[in-house]
Amino acid sequence: MNKWKIPFSNLEIDAEEQAAVIKVMASKWLTMGEVTEQFETAFADFLDVPYAFAVSSCSSALHLANVALGVGEGDEVICPSLSFVATVNSALYCGGKVVFADITGDENLNISPADIRKKITPSTKGIILMHYAGYACHMQEILKIARQHSLFVIEDAAHAPGAAISNGTVAGEVKLGTLGDVGCFSFFSNKNMSTGEGGMLVTKRKELADKIKRLRSHGMTALTLERHRGHAHSYDVTALGYNYRLDEIRSAMGIVQLKKLGRHNSARKKLVEYYRRKLAGVADISVPFKEFKGKSAYHLLPILLDHKIKRDGFIGYMKSKGIQTSVHYPAIHLFSYFRDKYGFSEGQLPKTEAVARRLVTLPLYPSLTFKQVDYIISEIKNYMKGRGIR
Ligand SMILES: Cc1ncc(COP(=O)(O)O)c(C=O)c1O
Repeated sequence: MNKWKIPFSNLEIDAEEQAAVIKVMASKWLTMGEVTEQFETAFADFLDVPYAFAVSSCSSALHLANVALGVGEGDEVICPSLSFVATVNSALYCGGKVVFADITGDENLNISPADIRKKITPSTKGIILMHYAGYACHMQEILKIARQHSLFVIEDAAHAPGAAISNGTVAGEVKLGTLGDVGCFSFFSNKNMSTGEGGMLVTKRKELADKIKRLRSHGMTALTLERHRGHAHSYDVTALGYNYRLDEIRSAMGIVQLKKLGRHNSARKKLVEYYRRKLAGVADISVPFKEFKGKSAYHLLPILLDHKIKRDGFIGYMKSKGIQTSVHYPAIHLFSYFRDKYGFSEGQLPKTEAVARRLVTLPLYPSLTFKQVDYIISEIKNYMKGRGIR
């Protein structure tokens, strides 16, 4: 399966996840049930929020968030373009109009509050932001803008389970995903915690929680588990809903992965610090978020190549040395679908475009060793030398 000497990401699962999954299979209750409820409770406790709903993916979480917050035909939703396409698709599914805001700059790749302000019109309904690589967006400013203009805030926290910012008290912190109206998490295979596919949606607002719970399962007033428990024998359908449920097998994996998250995030942090120290001396490469003050989830290790370095050549060279790299992300507004359908074009988001051309993401996962990082850095240096740049 794995031809790389050093893959880009690696699933950190062992006998504990396997045992949890086998136990569920032996129980013969596979659809959303008690194990999923336990997973939701554990996740809600971890984030200190009253409501958490396990769903089939972060994409479905984002979609449900838009539906629950009432995004409809013509509503403008401000989004980053430097993200995974699911972030913005969620508003489009509802008939919303995506308005892209630029990033802050080379050092901070998150959506710029100043540009959000510029993009607000009377039709703006909300903001979907994404905490890039697990580093918090400028939440104080964004929440202030949202309050001033009565906008909702959806946090795409796919990269950010366990990340936090200070809440202003000496020791206190508040976790990402709990600051806006709804927070959406991903448990896709390469994420900090994984169930293969899966996601979680969290909120503090009861009326949203009630809607989300129903919408996740076809708008039904009673679920299979409730009928099995004898609490209901029939049901009504009160809204156009979906099947976005998570099953017991994935939830069992999620419970174990959540227990390991703190340890895994600490390992990622150490690796990022090591990478940063080693890359500090390498000319023509910078590592964003150097100035970041909060607690990241260290989901990705993005680097920015200088303009004169050819990215394809760099990625190809690393591949020839068995090192898998990636790009997070090609700018969404420049994908064919977005150009053709909505008329977006080059020049509309200068900072995003400048960065998206130069970004490379290096391998990062808890079981990566410092020795492997040394190898990666030495090959980066070799590439630079070979190109006559230094
Ligand atoms: C920023 C971001 N948002 C949303 C998603 C979608 O998550 P999922 O694959 O769980 O639907 C991803 C997954 O790659 C992501 O990285």
